[in-house]
Amino acid sequence: MCEKKGVLVAIEGIDGTGKTTLAEKLKSWLESRGFKAAIVKEPGNSIWGRKIRESYSENMDAMEELELFLKDRAVDVKENILPKLCEGYVVLMDRYYYSNMAYQGARGIDMHEIRGINENIAPEPDMVILLDCDPELCLRRIENRGKRNRFESLKYLKKVRQNFLDIAREDEKVKVVDASRSEEEVFEEAKKLLNHLLRKSKE
Ligand code: TMP
Repeated sequence: MCEKKGVLVAIEGIDGTGKTTLAEKLKSWLESRGFKAAIVKEPGNSIWGRKIRESYSENMDAMEELELFLKDRAVDVKENILPKLCEGYVVLMDRYYYSNMAYQGARGIDMHEIRGINENIAPEPDMVILLDCDPELCLRRIENRGKRNRFESLKYLKKVRQNFLDIAREDEKVKVVDASRSEEEVFEEAKKLLNHLLRKSKE
C-alpha cells in the first residue's frame, strides 16, 4: 500500500440523475485547471462486474447480488482506485459503495452492515455528491436508453432514493445536489463543492 496523495469523490444517485455526464464534465474541468483526474465506473470490468451486467434481466437473490458487487469493488479498489490515488489523481467514482447501501439496502439488507463490509475493503471517499431527483422524472429521462435493467422500476427507485437521503442525513460527507435542474446548474454546484474540497485538502 502506498500513501494516499489524491482525492476520492463519489458521484451517486438513482438511475437517470446524470452521474456519468457530470463525471465527464468535472474531469475536463479539473484537467483544464491542471489536476490529474480519472473516472472509475462501478460496476466495473472484472469478471464479477461482467456477471452483474449479464444478469440485469434476471432475478437474483439479494445476498448473491451484494456478494457480486463486493467482489467487483474489491478488484476495482486494488487495480484502479488505490493506484490512481497513490499517483495523486482526483478519482471521480461514477457510483461507489453508497449505491451498494442504497440499492441492496432497498432489497432488505441492513444498510449499516453493507457500509461496514465496504469500509473494510474500500477507502472512504472524501466527498459524496448525491444527485437527487424524483424517480418519475429520472425514468422519463432514461426511457430512450432502451430496455430497463432490473433496478430501474419506479417502486424500487423510490425506496433507493429514500435510502440515499437517509444516508445523507447521517453522513456529512454526502452533499445533496438537486438534479432535477439543468445539466449546467448541476455542474456549477458540483464545481463549487469540489473547489471547496480541493482547497481544504491542500491545507
Ligand atoms: P449503471 O446504470 O450506473 O451502470 O449501474 C448499474 C446498476 O447497478 C444500477 O441500476 C445500480 C446498480 N448498482 C447496485 O445495485 N449496487 C451497487 O453497488 C452498484 C455500484 C450499482
